[in-house]
Amino acid sequence: MKKEKLWGGRFSEAAEKTLETFTASLHFDKKLYAHDLMGSLAHARTLAKAEVLSADELEAITTGLERIGKEIEAGDFPWDPALEDVHTNIEARLCELIGDTGKKLHTGRSRNDQIAADLRLYLRDGVKALRSAIHRMQSALVQRAEAEHASLMPGFTHLQIAQPITLGHHLMAWFEMLKRDRARLADGYKRINCMPLGAAALAGSGFAIDRRYTAHLLGFDGISDNSLDAVSDRDFVIELCADCAMLMMHLSRMAEEIILWCSQPFSFVSLPESWCTGSSLMPQKKNPDALELVRGKSGRVYGDLMALLTLMKAQPLAYNRDNQEDKEPAFDALDTSLACLEVMVGMVSSLQIDRERLAEMAQMGHATATDLADYLVRKRVPFRDAHAVSGQVVRYALEHRCCLWEIPLSELQKFHADIGEDAAEVLRPTQ
Ligand code: ARG
Repeated sequence: MKKEKLWGGRFSEAAEKTLETFTASLHFDKKLYAHDLMGSLAHARTLAKAEVLSADELEAITTGLERIGKEIEAGDFPWDPALEDVHTNIEARLCELIGDTGKKLHTGRSRNDQIAADLRLYLRDGVKALRSAIHRMQSALVQRAEAEHASLMPGFTHLQIAQPITLGHHLMAWFEMLKRDRARLADGYKRINCMPLGAAALAGSGFAIDRRYTAHLLGFDGISDNSLDAVSDRDFVIELCADCAMLMMHLSRMAEEIILWCSQPFSFVSLPESWCTGSSLMPQKKNPDALELVRGKSGRVYGDLMALLTLMKAQPLAYNRDNQEDKEPAFDALDTSLACLEVMVGMVSSLQIDRERLAEMAQMGHATATDLADYLVRKRVPFRDAHAVSGQVVRYALEHRCCLWEIPLSELQKFHADIGEDAAEVLRPTQ
């Protein structure tokens, strides 16, 4: 039997099939079912508190919604794409299950405030999941960094060997990036966690409902202050997506470095076979494809952010159907970021580090030239002069194809009389 559309009253013509397919969002907003049920339950309790629903009606609605939750989870909910979206599907089913009382649930509510509430509830969980995944990645980094606190490696600027550092120091730089990503998400959470229900279509509900009570039931920190804004703005989605884009930018930097480090010319680390893929043509290959995908997927999340910004740009107040297009990019940004974090935790935890190679490379590139300049500064030579002297010493080493610490003291003293035997200590990279 064909179900009536919930808004069918004023229509005498049936919808075109093309229109139905084009406007339907069920295939992606189904994902919101648990949050939709949660929101409806709280809305029903608020209606009962305002005596719009009787205790019996509330009871019937609660039982019906709970049953729907079970049906969806068991996979036997009769989803009907002709009913457009998750909200109408659930409401129609409720009416089917409990009869006329079901028709009272939508009192004082519109799908406009309903979707805003559902999305906020969903994204709240998304932020929690992201923050805990970032935390796992940070723990993995701290663990590795602690073990490598004394492992010398070359530090780079311009991808040229610059100064000796330790691998622990390097890994903790990644940790810091993630620390800020996590803090940004916590900050954005405050703006997500605001309750829009009661805004109804745009002008607010005609019933004296206690919105703070709904907020309390749903664990929202506060309520929206303007109903037009509550149903229309998606800045909280954009902000979350921007945080994901920033996170992905950081993950792409980490992925890129590990890719470089495990390429043969670097050979700083290797990845276990279980984290690599092979080539269909070159039998010898062991490739870090998953890291390349993390790097590549950053572009996809930037795309999600651009889609959302463009979606919101120049939209007049209040709700417009454009906003239905926010779901897919938001879900994609969340799912992609979570999947990438999971891969990166695995990668960081299983990196096989070649400490000898790292230490050997720390000796390349005359990386202690700055230390020689600082050494002279401590002997009261002005830094600019000390820099020039050290540069000449480097040129000598380049010409003689030797390391700085292999230059005899008598030769070093030709560049500056204050260079003493103790200079050897700064010239050879040590921890
Ligand atoms: N599927 C819609 C969305 O995602 C729900 C709200 C529909 N509201 C409306 N007035 N057609 O935004």
